[in-house]
Amino acid sequence: MPANLVVGAQWGDEGKAKVIDVLSKDTDIIVRYQGGANAGHTVVVKGKKYVFHLIPSGIIYDNKICVIGNGVVLDPTYFLEEVASIEKEGFDVRGKTFISDSAHLLLPFHKMIDASIEDGSDSETKIGTTKKGIGICYADKMMRTGLRVGDLLFPETARNKLKTIIQNKNREMDILYGLPGLNEAEVWDQLMTFYDLWKNRIINTSFYLNEELKEGKRVLLEGAQGTGLDVDFGTYPYVTSSNPTTGGALIGSGVGYHFLKKVIGISKAYITRVGEGPFPTELFGDEGSRLRELGGEYGATTGRPRRCGWFDVEMLKHAIRVNGMNAVALTKIDVLSDYESIPVAIGYELDGKKINYFPSQGLERVKPIYKEFPGWKSDITGINDFKKLPKNCQDYINVLRELIGVPVHMISTGPDRDHTIILAG
Ligand code: GDP
Ligand code: IMO
Ligand code: MG
Repeated sequence: MPANLVVGAQWGDEGKAKVIDVLSKDTDIIVRYQGGANAGHTVVVKGKKYVFHLIPSGIIYDNKICVIGNGVVLDPTYFLEEVASIEKEGFDVRGKTFISDSAHLLLPFHKMIDASIEDGSDSETKIGTTKKGIGICYADKMMRTGLRVGDLLFPETARNKLKTIIQNKNREMDILYGLPGLNEAEVWDQLMTFYDLWKNRIINTSFYLNEELKEGKRVLLEGAQGTGLDVDFGTYPYVTSSNPTTGGALIGSGVGYHFLKKVIGISKAYITRVGEGPFPTELFGDEGSRLRELGGEYGATTGRPRRCGWFDVEMLKHAIRVNGMNAVALTKIDVLSDYESIPVAIGYELDGKKINYFPSQGLERVKPIYKEFPGWKSDITGINDFKKLPKNCQDYINVLRELIGVPVHMISTGPDRDHTIILAG
């Protein structure tokens, strides 16, 4: 049976979790494949809101398995807190979740260094990270000096590795950042608290997932962040330190590429971004605030106000290309209901010349070419039949569909699971 993939087409917060929640109904296993607690994934069911950071967004279904893949950087202390808060709501987490033995452990010094670099940066060098230690942990992974979840299965070796890591990190923190050193025994105790509770759920998730797929199970791969934040295809250096895109989904889950069927790009009907970096269609001042308030655009992880702007066709086409997206889910269309007329960036000019791609250099110099579309000026929240949408709203969606050249499979008209129009299987 197939694996389907949900991937962000913009700079994150596109409403991925809402779509994952809807699709989870017809799925057996939901897999987070990259990122860490920098993600904030919101699901709303019958008015009740849940926000997930590390745990896959399918966890509130009773009979689904959730997997934290090898591509995730797992902060064990944060993870235990998140599990506790979900279990307090009455959901079983441990009985339904497996963790990859190859996922990297995100330790306290990763967060301390991330925060220290961010706080010490000036406006030229600031990335605006979530300060969750993500970039520093992935750097250690690439340096081959990281500790992995599976190392804990051999406590004596793991403790020796940790000793060396803490010795080196304490020197680095002192010399480069003027930060206090960490007590290795305390870090070890935190790891053991996690290990004691989760040791039976640590497995080779790539083996597990491919076996389950062969048996006919349906797998849904859950991306965090989005294409604009991809370390290769995003707006480097204003990106996260992983690959949210399709290549990253295969690497971060170990699912064989031949199982992959649908690659569903999630796109808001406008765009938001948190943190620094270029954003061609950004709205400033009152215009930006208006869209922010209409969309409730405040970060699910850090609470920061999100920068807001108009829909950008070139950006979505870039995401479609690098991910091989064969379906799009359009979210938050209800947020535009207040507008008399809705601008869409249908093309780009760079240094006075028209270009037909999303450039990897010079995006800050790009001038969007806008076309205005008539608004519909009526509340469409919760409509779940395309034919019931106002004519102008249907036209707007049809035009976007033509401009991007990929079928729109789902339209989201509100935050709730039920506020959804399904257009195709
Ligand atoms: P994710 O990180 O991509 O999962 O998205 P977030 O959860 O960070 O942000 C999306 C926000 O929009 C959340 O507050 C969702 O509840 C909300 N949301 C999702 N879809 C819709 C929609 O169609 N309309 C409205 N009004 N809100 C939505
Ligand atoms: P979800 O999964 C939006 C942004 C940060 C910053 C940059 C690097 O909810 O869509 P990091 O802490 O990853 O090193 O920060 O990436 N960022 C996100 N923006 N949604 C997210 O996740 C994000 N995760 C990271 O704001 O600009
Ligand atoms: Mg989010």
